[in-house]
Amino acid sequence: MITPILLCGGSGTRLWPLSRKSYPKQFARLMGEESLFQASAKRLSGEGFAAPVVLTGEPFRFIVTEQLAQVEQAPQGILIEPEGRNTAPAVLAAALWLAERDAQALMLVAPSDHVIPDPEAFRAAVVAAAPRAQAGDLVTFGITPTRAETGYGYLELAAGADAQANAPQSLARFVEKPDAARAAEMLAAGTYLWNAGIFLFTAEAILAAYRAHAPALVEAVSAALEGAGTDLGFTRLAAAPWSGAEDISIDYAIMEKADNLAVMPFGAGWSDLGGWDAVWAVSGPDAAGNVCSDEATAIDCRDTLLRSETPGQQLVGIGLEDMMVVSMSDAVLVAPKSQAQRVKEAVAALKAKG
Ligand code: GDD
Ligand code: MG
Repeated sequence: MITPILLCGGSGTRLWPLSRKSYPKQFARLMGEESLFQASAKRLSGEGFAAPVVLTGEPFRFIVTEQLAQVEQAPQGILIEPEGRNTAPAVLAAALWLAERDAQALMLVAPSDHVIPDPEAFRAAVVAAAPRAQAGDLVTFGITPTRAETGYGYLELAAGADAQANAPQSLARFVEKPDAARAAEMLAAGTYLWNAGIFLFTAEAILAAYRAHAPALVEAVSAALEGAGTDLGFTRLAAAPWSGAEDISIDYAIMEKADNLAVMPFGAGWSDLGGWDAVWAVSGPDAAGNVCSDEATAIDCRDTLLRSETPGQQLVGIGLEDMMVVSMSDAVLVAPKSQAQRVKEAVAALKAKG
């Protein structure tokens, strides 16, 4: 059995105004009828999968239980982080929690900010990768890169590894978020894949890696779990030791340092919904390149995203090109699509205004 570890603690400020501090993007209905979190939970259920373990923050605990119930899932545990300390402490807390129950348990760490259009193909890749993880390797999932993206991790295939294979391959190295020049080099080399941000390993193997590469984290997070309180099925990590855990991602803390890495190539479609431009791209633009929600109308527009999120409110764009408009009842975003990564500045600016 594989236990999904669902990470949903991020804030998603680049998808403002749909994504809010109190209701971040993973819980919003960004694509279709389900939230990204619900889609991740469903993608990792069925034969071969145990009930998920969820890691989230205090304000989201009831959103998590409600949204899981809506898709008929009952988590085996919900761990509550007193504050966001990034993915390295979060994954470690899940590994320690799970190891108390079964050290050999396979954990599939899944972020909830992705779209994977073919869930069946993804489950098949996970199942094909399982023996390698069972043998003690830390398995990543690799995507064929299409641009010199600096926001992702890169996986360097070992000599002789096959990026098209339908089986796990050995890795020479993991490089997290390179600068632009390095990213361009890796794209040109043709021997790198993008890290999908999804990992498969046994609790025992990842704990061994943390002990070797991040012993101080093991101390802090073990103390936070030992001091944890439980109520209503939530495990609340103890705040004092937790705040002493380094704020670092698993990519930097473990993956860049480990020498027992493997990659399962995954070619069936994956996107990281990092901004409105990505939402536009995966929403299937029409012949003119527009994506319009039910109550939005594009007249003579090109390559434009028009989303009205307020029932009964009509949104009309005329003569727009490469624009994005997202209209809520209390906030409206209007910007060129090329500025999609700057949307987080809106959140900062509004916060500064009070
Ligand atoms: N529970 C919890 N607590 N979840 C968290 C926390 C936290 O403190 N911090 C981040 N997450 C969740 C986010 O909500 C997201 O679902 C996932 O963990 C990954 O965090 P991101 O902050 O989105 O990471 P990234 O996109 O910069 O980089 C990662 O993903 C890329 C692919 O999308 C890395 O793994 C890269 O190597 C990878 O290429
Ligand atoms: Mg991300």
